[in-house]
Amino acid sequence: MRNQNPQQKRVKNLSLISEGKNLEDVPSPKLEDVKDKEKPLINILLSYFKNIKFPTRNPSKDKSRKNVIIEEATDDIENVVIDAFAIGKVRAYNRKELANSVNNKKFPDMLLLLDRLIKLHNPRFTYTTIQINKGVQTTYHRDKGNIGLSYCIGLGDFVGGGVIVRFADGVEKLYDNHNKWLYYDGHSLEHASNKVKKGLRYAVIYFTHF
Ligand SMILES: [Fe+2]
Repeated sequence: MRNQNPQQKRVKNLSLISEGKNLEDVPSPKLEDVKDKEKPLINILLSYFKNIKFPTRNPSKDKSRKNVIIEEATDDIENVVIDAFAIGKVRAYNRKELANSVNNKKFPDMLLLLDRLIKLHNPRFTYTTIQINKGVQTTYHRDKGNIGLSYCIGLGDFVGGGVIVRFADGVEKLYDNHNKWLYYDGHSLEHASNKVKKGLRYAVIYFTHF
């Protein structure tokens, strides 16, 4: 994983973009096919995801996860957890620098597989962090802590899903990223995950932390 990200040069512009002044400069989201050589790695990753005890987060105690939809009806919303975790570099509480996630040591093979996968897909892409969500749906949001372009892919056996992007003119577009890479600027563009009708979605998002 590389820390030096050429996309960081865009910080100044992005602050303008996020204020809505310069949205025409944001590249349109793009769907990219999975290459044949990526498929065996994806299958290994999927069985990895299915076989681990998924780390959980409590969205009500986590400011960055307020946009998560809890689909099960519950009276105990404070104690609901979602199956989601980050691996790679994370922002440690109260610290300026990025630090290694505890999950790097917990799942070292997964980190290597994930890194190998994105390098097969786009060797020029750099990132600091990978977010993995299991059965999680999000409402419209912008990725406040991200910079530059992210890759997001929906994996597993499910029907429906995809990512909806809402553009500055209010137009909403669904990108079906089931087994496809969505390459998009989640910091500048409002987006939400579309509901899964049947089955279970694993969403994998590669991004660069500020
Ligand atoms: Fe997002």
